[in-house]
Amino acid sequence: MTTQRTLSRMSWALAAAGLLGATAAQAGEIEVLHWWTSGGEAKAATALKLTLQKKGHRWKDFAVAGGGGDSAMTVLKSRVVSGNPPSAAQIKGPSIQEWAREGVLANMDDVAKANKWDELLPKAIADGLKYKGNYVAAPVNVHRVNWLWTNPEAFKKAGAKVPTTWDEFFTAAEALKKAGIVAVAHGGQNWQDFTTFEAVALGVGGTDFYKKALVQLDQNALKSATMDQVLTTFKKIKDYTDKNAPGRDWNLATAMVINGQAGMQIMGDWAKGEFLAAGKVPGKDFGCVAAPGTAKAYTYNVDSFAMFQLKDQANIAAQKDLAAEIMSTQFQEVFNLNKGSIPVRLNMPMDKFDDCAKASSKDFVDSSKSGGLVPSIAHGMAVSSAAEGAIKDAVSNYWNSDKMTVAEAKDKIAAAARTK
Ligand code: GAL
Repeated sequence: MTTQRTLSRMSWALAAAGLLGATAAQAGEIEVLHWWTSGGEAKAATALKLTLQKKGHRWKDFAVAGGGGDSAMTVLKSRVVSGNPPSAAQIKGPSIQEWAREGVLANMDDVAKANKWDELLPKAIADGLKYKGNYVAAPVNVHRVNWLWTNPEAFKKAGAKVPTTWDEFFTAAEALKKAGIVAVAHGGQNWQDFTTFEAVALGVGGTDFYKKALVQLDQNALKSATMDQVLTTFKKIKDYTDKNAPGRDWNLATAMVINGQAGMQIMGDWAKGEFLAAGKVPGKDFGCVAAPGTAKAYTYNVDSFAMFQLKDQANIAAQKDLAAEIMSTQFQEVFNLNKGSIPVRLNMPMDKFDDCAKASSKDFVDSSKSGGLVPSIAHGMAVSSAAEGAIKDAVSNYWNSDKMTVAEAKDKIAAAARTK
């Protein structure tokens, strides 16, 4: 009897061990590099973590703080060079091709085929996720970059009108300043300077100029008289920022608009994630309008995860689950509701989204038909990472210098655009 009981207990234990073994073999570890550490960003990243944990996988967070992701990219390079890549990393635009050329990315075609990515994504976006015709990255969203965020209370106090042109922008800025409010919340980091610059280039120069100068890097456009106007307008904005702007993180600049210390911020719609995380309501507590002069245009920024080649079979299976889940309707909804962006997957219901997201969704479609849809250079969507970095530095040096003339800045930017 006792022996029998012991035996049956043993077989239970063995069976349980077998079962556990089976689960462990399927459950993999997923290490994902990203830079989503602010309020709204972190909530969106948590949605990704929970999605993968529900599938039984172990989530290993690899967050490297720093808006715009420059620090994250530096850390990623050292990990890949040492032969120890994460499962996935937030890599966007032309950089996907740069990484794929190094031969370190994994082919995700089986996942893409099974889940019909070719039918669910706008073709231009799908093409950017493929290397030599094979998917190597999965997209999570579409961010619009050319937004102006406003605090309605501050505008009321200043008797100012929400601007739609750059002239109106400076009129409003002057009124806010007179009312003792910081007119423009800015974080003086090179990528934030560059984000402001591209909005001005689009608003002052228009989409054709933007495409020639900042996508094709056409030297004539970069040296044109339009560029003089862009640089003059850009620098004038600095007069309306506060003395603590240098080095400030973007989310702290957004917090100034949230609490009424500042009137406006030029920033992509990850800023909306901050307003929402603070419990603020669009149209009531804050306003979202296209950056001055850019109502008919749309600067897009698609966050995506490039998948690295792995050796461990369970981790490979987990990585494929990650790719599949990222494109699911449930994930696209919950992630983007938190992140401030819109789903990249086509034909998603937008009823749970707010008016800023609905406007973004409509403008995305309209601008893609009218030719107003342009890639964001400041967020890695338009040119090689080398050219982007060089132009970003030149733009930021001009913003920070009291001596550099428009002509000098123009020469430096045009020279930087030649960087290979
Ligand atoms: C962008 C990125 C966004 C957001 C932002 C600030 O480049 O695409 O997802 O995180 O930086 O960190």
